Amino acid sequence: MLKKLASAIVLWVSSLLFLAMDAHTQEQANIPSLWETFTPMFDIGVAVEPHLLNDENTPHILRHYRSLTAENCMKPNALYRPDGRGHFEPADRLVAFAKEHGLRLRGHTLVWHNQTPAGFFTDEAGNQLDKDALYARMEAYMTCVMEHFRDVVYCWDVVNEALADGGEETYRVESPWYKICGKEFLLRAFQTAHRIDPDVRLYYNDYGLLNPDKRAKAVAMLKELLATDAPIFGVGIQGHWDIHTFSPQELQKTIDAFAELGLDVQITELDMSVHHPGNREALDGEKWEYTSEIEARQAEVYAQVFEVLCRNADRISSVTFWGISDQYSWRNDFPKKNRPDYALPFDRNSSPKKGFYSIVESFSEF
Ligand code: G3I
Repeated sequence: MLKKLASAIVLWVSSLLFLAMDAHTQEQANIPSLWETFTPMFDIGVAVEPHLLNDENTPHILRHYRSLTAENCMKPNALYRPDGRGHFEPADRLVAFAKEHGLRLRGHTLVWHNQTPAGFFTDEAGNQLDKDALYARMEAYMTCVMEHFRDVVYCWDVVNEALADGGEETYRVESPWYKICGKEFLLRAFQTAHRIDPDVRLYYNDYGLLNPDKRAKAVAMLKELLATDAPIFGVGIQGHWDIHTFSPQELQKTIDAFAELGLDVQITELDMSVHHPGNREALDGEKWEYTSEIEARQAEVYAQVFEVLCRNADRISSVTFWGISDQYSWRNDFPKKNRPDYALPFDRNSSPKKGFYSIVESFSEF
């Protein structure tokens, strides 16, 4: 009798679990697909880590995105090895996934001051390389990496975040690239990448480009590069924005400025923090709540973003979200580890938020 009761309870609990799971799966299957919605306009992509390509996330990824960016595993600190052979596991898992499912892959990133091992800039004895030696290393590294991913990566962020945020300086002068080579490392990087693979599309990628001062620096830098025939195909506007300071007018001006230079535009790292960049109080998670009003405000701002993007669809080839859901967003660790943020259109269960619906609706206006 007890046994029968126990198995009845087990059966009841598992059918409840099954129903709950099924409702979640059904919800996932019934909502519009982001990439199908925006296909006439631009690619929709997402940043992922190889360990996230599991049974739980795969249906979500395939439903909404047609392009992938490696969030970390194709950066120099993941790939570079002093013996020059390259460390390609786990990036190759991402490549296999992209190939299996016919997804496009953005290469991120070749030349960056961050996430590049200190040893990249020194010889075996630990002495800083001179300019020629660093260029030789740049060439060897790019050849190794670009050849390895040649048949799957359709574009590379060749140089990432070379510009200074504020002040008089155009460039990030504390970068080892700048310290050793001066600004000419940018031209050299694009020329080298183009020589290695003349067919792959080459991008300059940066954040903060809606800020008029930084945008002006970017325009001046790109003009100068283009005047020397640098083989730049486009600009990646990263898009790490927040609901308090995002301005659709500034986004429009930034797209105009790059398109007028004849460059393709991509939004490469889109997310929308709900915290004010200067709000220290929100660093204390307990004092702060993601209310439905904040979620609604975030949805309005996401709609503003996509209204601008749709209006400029002929100048934009791709829009990539920086993470598959709030669960896996880098924003939860920035500017402080474990300070929750809610920056993406999908919540921690990968369920659609108000922002998801406002993004999809923004398309129907066009
Ligand atoms: O891999 C280690 C792991 O071994 C260790 O246990 C753990 C402890 O914290 O750290 C792990 O490394 C972290 C890595 O992400 C992988 O999760 C690093 O601490 C963390 O700093 C790193 O953050 C990445 C950040 O770039 C570093 O610059 C974020 O995931 C990634 O989203 C972010 O992406 C950048 C773009 O490449 C360029 N634009 C800005 C964007 C956001 O910062």
